[in-house]
Amino acid sequence: MPRKLIIAIDGYSSCGKSTFAKAIARKLDYIYIDSGAMYRAVTLYCLRKGYAGREELKTANILNDIKIIDISFVYNPDISEYETYLNSENVEKEIRGIEVSSHVSRISQIPEVRDRMVALQRQIGVFKGIVMDGRDIGTVVFPDADLKIFMTASVDIRARRRFDELRGKNIHVDFEEIRNNIIARDIADENRDISPLRKAPDAIVLDNSRMTVSQQMDWVMDIIRTLTDGN
Ligand code: DC
Repeated sequence: MPRKLIIAIDGYSSCGKSTFAKAIARKLDYIYIDSGAMYRAVTLYCLRKGYAGREELKTANILNDIKIIDISFVYNPDISEYETYLNSENVEKEIRGIEVSSHVSRISQIPEVRDRMVALQRQIGVFKGIVMDGRDIGTVVFPDADLKIFMTASVDIRARRRFDELRGKNIHVDFEEIRNNIIARDIADENRDISPLRKAPDAIVLDNSRMTVSQQMDWVMDIIRTLTDGN
């Protein structure tokens, strides 16, 4: 049996990280973890509690509650995918909406929120055989990951993909709003003080602007074969 790997997939928002990571996990029979969904779930919690929104962040309340926020991923056999649960409630659809998307950058910059999420992510990773996508997986969460991929694609292509994805889920959205949200999140992700989005020195860059998922799979499976051959 080939050895099991930890595969870290980082990169800009909406460049197909989760589609790609899910496809790899399915192919290898690995666990897929969407680390962005965890930050989104915390953000939803804060919005519902009134700790975030139009006014200032209520940081003291967030720090107090972060210990009791439970996030898990439960497999839904009907759609053959894992869904995100916040304190036992399925929030998969709600965390993808524009309101959460607009506030998640601020919440994910709180050091204590990051510490808690990174600890949870490392716990999930102890068994290997995992594909995790996010912003800091190859740099902070698993600096010793067996394979690190840094994904990128043009802003317009990413906006179109996000738009189509949300429309497909019957979530009403405006294209320009999506595009602006992506630009704003790139700036926030790259410029934040803690764990800014960076390519790990040993990550392989994948610009998939003009690649299909199947082309990306052929590309990555070749790399994975060389990593696991004879091991
Ligand atoms: O991948 P996504 O768009 O669902 O991520 C949502 C937000 O969470 C994004 O604005 C950046 C943040 N994030 C993060 O800070 N670190 C991660 N590992 C994953 C996501």
